[in-house]
Amino acid sequence: MVGRNLRNEVNFFIFLAHSLTILKANMDIQMRDVCLGDLDYLLAWRNEPAVRFYSIKPAVISKVEHTEWFLKRIELLQDQPFWIFESDSEKVGMVRLDRNKTGQGFLINIIISPKFRGKGFGKVILNSAIMQMIDAYGAQELTAMVHKENLKSIKLFSSLCFTQVSEKQNYCTFKLYNSSDNDFTINS
Ligand SMILES: CC(C)(COP(=O)(O)OP(=O)(O)OC[C@H]1O[C@@H](n2cnc3c(N)ncnc32)[C@H](O)[C@@H]1OP(=O)(O)O)[C@@H](O)C(=O)NCCC(=O)NCCS
Repeated sequence: MVGRNLRNEVNFFIFLAHSLTILKANMDIQMRDVCLGDLDYLLAWRNEPAVRFYSIKPAVISKVEHTEWFLKRIELLQDQPFWIFESDSEKVGMVRLDRNKTGQGFLINIIISPKFRGKGFGKVILNSAIMQMIDAYGAQELTAMVHKENLKSIKLFSSLCFTQVSEKQNYCTFKLYNSSDNDFTINS
């Protein structure tokens, strides 16, 4: 196993307490916890055809179903982050980290608002979420389930040192491991 220090590769952000400012090139992005006011557009993002196409559950989600899930999910924020990223008061994207059933790691879900896709925001936002997971949550393992035809997502996770560990029924599992304190490594 060859260890690679991800921290060195992603450590170009400035974090400030709970409300974070991420500075990279000309991007100025605010990171905050999700709140009730985010309910409607998160449902719209989730139900957008391009998102559903690659989703493990591609059916349209009703407002009732979404609201029930969302109200339960925001109760878990302290232990399982769910962040909104904004630039100039516009919603750029979200990252949600759900604890794996083992309790050891987190499953990552990322959506960039259609308007902001393909402009490098996904990489900046995911990077900042990883940094926060290292610094504040001590995650041992980060996992992403990516549809094998979702090239943007595959490129995104690969570019941040996630390694594909398996493929099953159209979905590739990507992982990033934390082998010691504040030091993410990958197998290669
Ligand atoms: C997947 C997603 C999060 C990527 O975010 P993004 O802001 O669009 O991506 P970025 O601009 O940061 O680019 C990420 C990588 O994809 C590549 N990319 C961007 N647009 C692309 C396109 N149209 N076709 C192929 N690759 C593309 C970039 O070059 C970059 O790869 P690189 O680091 O090797 O150069 C975003 O497109 C999205 O929200 N899609 C819908 C939801 C989804 O699929 N979520 C992932 C679930 S696992």
